[in-house]
Amino acid sequence: MSDLRLSGVRYELTRTLLHDLDLTFAAGRMTALSGPSGSGKTTLLSIAGGLLRPSAGEATYAGAPMWRGTGDPRPEVSFVLQVYGLVPILSARENVSVALRARDVDPDEADERAAQALARFHIADLADRQVEELSGGQMQRVALARGLCVGAGVLLADEPTSELDEGNRGLVLAELRREADRGAVVVVATHDPAVVDACDDHHALDEGRLVDHTEPVQLPVEGSRGSLRSHLDQRDAGSHLDQPDVQVVEQGGAPATSGRRDHPTDDPDQPGSRGSLRSHLDQQDAGSDLDQQDAGSDLDRPEDDDPYELFRRPPGSP
Ligand SMILES: Nc1ncnc2c1ncn2[C@@H]1O[C@H](COP(=O)(O)OP(=O)(O)OP(=O)(O)O)[C@@H](O)[C@H]1O
Ligand SMILES: [Mg+2]
Repeated sequence: MSDLRLSGVRYELTRTLLHDLDLTFAAGRMTALSGPSGSGKTTLLSIAGGLLRPSAGEATYAGAPMWRGTGDPRPEVSFVLQVYGLVPILSARENVSVALRARDVDPDEADERAAQALARFHIADLADRQVEELSGGQMQRVALARGLCVGAGVLLADEPTSELDEGNRGLVLAELRREADRGAVVVVATHDPAVVDACDDHHALDEGRLVDHTEPVQLPVEGSRGSLRSHLDQRDAGSHLDQPDVQVVEQGGAPATSGRRDHPTDDPDQPGSRGSLRSHLDQQDAGSDLDQQDAGSDLDRPEDDDPYELFRRPPGSP
């Protein structure tokens, strides 16, 4: 297991898009990368995965540079792209299978593994449909199946849940957790507080700079009704939110804290908790299965929960 490191990474076009970033994305952990639109998340992932050459500094994995001189990522790297990157006239299965064939997997085996990957995301029945006939959320899950099927050491997912309902978001988070559990570096660019909440680590960008966790950050006042119940419960118990590295203060905008986060609970009844995701995986492993998730199961969230309540606390309040 190796970490992915960014050392002094700068990216300049007509202006500086990333300012001398030093970051480590740890193997075996899910890291959220948040920040307002245009703050540099996609640019950072592109450099981290070897698609773009940094103007200064470098990204390395297992001690070797990510940039190989061509813009082709190393084979250990897999992307789930923000714009999906699917071939519209190919079927869902073919779109997934090509990623495996490109890694020299035998075509029959690639097709079989592609079908299994689609099943992980509850779209096995769409395997033969052309991608251009699919909805945005279905396309997003095809892109996830393609990104996750190859067993990459570094998985870079750019807003992978932006088109998904709550149940499918939980499913995707569980699958990303499975990738981290086998030792992959998993980085997830997101605007979604519930996705941040499900990750182990969190770095926030603003105008190409890392937001220091001691500075006020912008947080949303309106949005989806995804529950942060476990956080709220922990706050009520006066526990981990008092820690400086997860302190959250109010100013309106995207959620942002930087640094390592400790999961508050492994209680599977807590939506968004590791325990909750674990129970998804256990359900899958037990074959109990996946359709339950569309029915809600442990991802159900009461309507009267206010997911942003904790972000509205005035600075310095307990
Ligand atoms: N090829 C390019 N030429 C010029 N500017 C670019 C280019 N690519 C990105 N930018 C600019 O770089 C900044 C960062 O873009 P980036 O796509 O990394 O943001 P982001 O945080 O991923 O945003 P979003 O949340 O909307 O996806 C933006 O201001 C964008 O306009
Ligand atoms: Mg982006």
